Amino acid sequence: MTPDDDPTAENPLIEGLERLPVRPTSLVIFGGLGDLSKRKLLPALYNLAHEGALPERFHLVGTSRSPMSDAEFREDAAQAIRQFSRREPDETVLDALLAEVRWVAGTFDDPETYSRIAEVLADFDERAGALSLNRAFYLSTAPDFFPVIVEQLGGHGLNRCADDRAGDVRIVIEKPFGTTLASAEALNRTVLGVFDERQVFRIDHYLGKETVQNMLAFRFSNRMFEPVWNRDHIQSVQITAGEDIGIGSRAGYYDGAGALRDLVQNHMMQLLCLLAMEPPIDLSADEVRNEKVKVLKAIRPPLPEEIDGMSVRGQYAAGQSSGDEVAGYLEEEGVPADSTTETYAALRLHVQNWRWSGVPFYLRTGKRLARKVTEIAVTLKPVPHMAFGGFDPGHAPLSANVLVFTMQPNEGVSLSLGAKIPGTRMKIRPVQMDFQYGTSFVSQSPEAYERLIMDAMRGDATLFTRNDEAEAQWRIMDPIVSRWEDSDAALPQYEAGSQGPAEAETLLRDGDRWRRV
Ligand code: BG6
Repeated sequence: MTPDDDPTAENPLIEGLERLPVRPTSLVIFGGLGDLSKRKLLPALYNLAHEGALPERFHLVGTSRSPMSDAEFREDAAQAIRQFSRREPDETVLDALLAEVRWVAGTFDDPETYSRIAEVLADFDERAGALSLNRAFYLSTAPDFFPVIVEQLGGHGLNRCADDRAGDVRIVIEKPFGTTLASAEALNRTVLGVFDERQVFRIDHYLGKETVQNMLAFRFSNRMFEPVWNRDHIQSVQITAGEDIGIGSRAGYYDGAGALRDLVQNHMMQLLCLLAMEPPIDLSADEVRNEKVKVLKAIRPPLPEEIDGMSVRGQYAAGQSSGDEVAGYLEEEGVPADSTTETYAALRLHVQNWRWSGVPFYLRTGKRLARKVTEIAVTLKPVPHMAFGGFDPGHAPLSANVLVFTMQPNEGVSLSLGAKIPGTRMKIRPVQMDFQYGTSFVSQSPEAYERLIMDAMRGDATLFTRNDEAEAQWRIMDPIVSRWEDSDAALPQYEAGSQGPAEAETLLRDGDRWRRV
């Protein structure tokens, strides 16, 4: 399909709250020059500015304990944008975006930091005259600081706009949201003791990815999927988030987290929910999240004695990545030599409801696998009767239809179909029917954070994790986390650059196979 015959008449289903205007906003980034802010948030703000998507009145405040002047923050932010923006920055747009940035230096537990933030925000309010500014606080810090920042914001009355002002206040919280069910519940209690749920935006950047949202578009704007989207027609679902990279310089965080907490509990469970959820009434935040929570509730948390049979973990050993020799996990800088943190996790889950009963959902993620691939593969059952090959029992079975949603590396959707090989004989071979984002649409996909920052400023929480959703995710993961932490069984190793540990094969049922990473 070329862009010319692309019926870009937008689908009314996916026009939702994104039509809401973005009100004038003051955005405060805690951890304003941290890694995430430099690599993702500041470049996302730049690209929004470049597209004219930011509100006309937009103020940026950075804060962390680094002593710095406003001018130094401006310079460092510009540097980060030049380095990490997906498009070459236009210096005029960059100057306009950063012209009035402010930096507040202070520790996150010091009340003085918040008094100064309050002063800066009041100053912006005053300059806006009669126009009321929304406020957004973005917590892009180590998770240990989330509770203290939230409490301090509340203690300084920063959870509401000043009495004479009409704006909204929002708080955006980065991952990880808790490290166990109990800690996620505790964090929710702290956050909801200060903010109302409608003010809270828990980030899962996978939800900001175009192809992840495309799952909703594909499932709910095409009639052809629904009739087969159930246990009668689907053999299994396989969700993969493979990475070729190691842990880089993130040992401090990663060794305490591991693959299950880092990727499965949040990103992969979101993918599973979008695939398995019932059609929502509309795309409003609560309707979509209600349906996702129902999916999570239908996954029974595994009993301790079931865990070894439905989960496999592994840790990468030395090997090769893109032709280079690379170290094993235990040799990575900052990783304790006896660490038992998993860098690979695979699970077999079941969504126990009418639609999905009996269909295995295989989830798999790992660092230092053969390549970077994020995909969901839906394998349909074989045809009920093999007309091809007559009654010959030795005739090779036909390949099943597989529908693959690829998020990375090449965003798109492909369907494998059986087709006749040209010639005088009836021979069937699988062929691919592909839709590629890159060729069907001319425009470049925005970065996930662009979409998410806009939505948070608009007040649309559809693509954010709700409190009960985060807890429901942990309820499933918690028993696995504890079992793995307590287990003294040897941790399977896999060579860097490989497909992961051989033990993962044991999870597969009824002839299912892992797709190649
Ligand atoms: C992050 C994890 O949330 O997601 C990282 O902490 C991981 O370990 C990353 O590399 C993967 O995101 P993406 O967008 O590159 O698939």
